[in-house]
Amino acid sequence: MAKILVNNSGPLHGEVKVSGAKNSVLPLLAATILTDKLCVIEDVPNLADVSVMKEILKKYGAKIDDSEDGVIKINTPEIISCVGDKDLVQEMRASIFTMGPMLARYGKTVMPLPGGCTIGKRPIDLHLKGFRALGAKVTEDRENELVTVEVGPEGLKGDAIYLDFPSVGATENILMAATLAKGTTIIENAAKEPEIIDLANQLNKMGAKIKSAGTDMIRIEGVEKLSGCVHEAIPDRIETGTFLLAAAITRGDILIKNAIPGHVRPIMAKLKECNVDIDVRPEGIYVDARDRELVATDLKTLPYPGLPTDIQSPFMAFLTTVKGSSVVRETVFENRFMHVVELNRMGADITTENSREARVPGGKKLHGAKVRATDLRAGAAMVLAGLVASGTTEISEIFHIERGYEDFVGKLKSLGADIMRTGEN
Ligand code: EPZ
Repeated sequence: MAKILVNNSGPLHGEVKVSGAKNSVLPLLAATILTDKLCVIEDVPNLADVSVMKEILKKYGAKIDDSEDGVIKINTPEIISCVGDKDLVQEMRASIFTMGPMLARYGKTVMPLPGGCTIGKRPIDLHLKGFRALGAKVTEDRENELVTVEVGPEGLKGDAIYLDFPSVGATENILMAATLAKGTTIIENAAKEPEIIDLANQLNKMGAKIKSAGTDMIRIEGVEKLSGCVHEAIPDRIETGTFLLAAAITRGDILIKNAIPGHVRPIMAKLKECNVDIDVRPEGIYVDARDRELVATDLKTLPYPGLPTDIQSPFMAFLTTVKGSSVVRETVFENRFMHVVELNRMGADITTENSREARVPGGKKLHGAKVRATDLRAGAAMVLAGLVASGTTEISEIFHIERGYEDFVGKLKSLGADIMRTGEN
């Protein structure tokens, strides 16, 4: 079983380049189902989740050329199956992002219900509400844990859809389906994450007519057909935040290149509250936590532009090491404190009132321990904690980390971290 071993590493120093965003590349790839023409996606990170998405698309009939590093050339001349592969869907929830484009292109999509995961039950009711609003028929087969969505004889028809929660995935799925629907679709209370804007930009390059993506009301005029495109994914804002926190927790200084400051404003603002110095420069974001008295602050995760839920666990790891107590509130997922038990193995003494609020006493000298990655971001949090803990921290279940961080160990090593990956894949 592969593991990551981290020793106390002292202050990190140097520069690091952020990769393309996982949570952008996955919907960008799914959107290529909408056309039979060639799409070229650039700045694609080498991640397990990207490999799974490629496998899923190949089963639908996609022809993929990924011979060039970081570039995926993909076209789907014809759909040979509209059924999601159960094993692949179980492996990666983002498989459901292929439902909207498949519905629009082929008129039918069959998807095994994606399992919940450690951070929550992850329902898809809002996705299905959107498909129904566009005139599709949804059949849920609970016994076989399958959902079938098919368009009626008149195809998809635009309509107004209100999302009870600004779900990122539901916004993306409905957005993709609406591009080929007849008439106008309005998505109200839409998610505003940068990945939504990135997806809309690619779809508009393909000939879609989408307006005001990035606001809470997105307007889509349906078109007959979509063409191919060349599109570069935005940099990963959560990886950017993770490296901001790697400098902060080790009291080091790092220049983060290829980051978009506007996508990490809430993370930078919270770190400045902790007295970390952050300077946005033409060559990148420079973060400096050397020789400074860092202080605690409270966190509350919210949909964009609030503090992203994905940075909550790495930020909590950092808060265990600063003077003063913090309250961390998780409002997006119902069970995203699984890392608390793991951090407490290292001496963090965190208490949780319920699954939505944790109290971090702070001022701790963490010690190494055997811990596990409970989800992708929690895994990153354990690595950060290991960098400052005394002795060695051994992290298992690191497949979570490798789903979403490209060459995380290599990048940290280049910044001076004493870290290694052991064991077979
Ligand atoms: C996306 O997941 C991201 N994944 C997640 O990143 C991220 O944490 C999340 O958005 C929130 O920002 C990808 O983009 C691949 P949601 P998604 O739908 O779309 C509830 C990571 O670490 N909900 O915005 O699944 C849901 O249960 C991953 O990279 C419904 O109730 O998130 C949750 O409580 C983890 N019904 C909340 O909305 C629905 O139909 C937010 O979920 C859909 C969602």
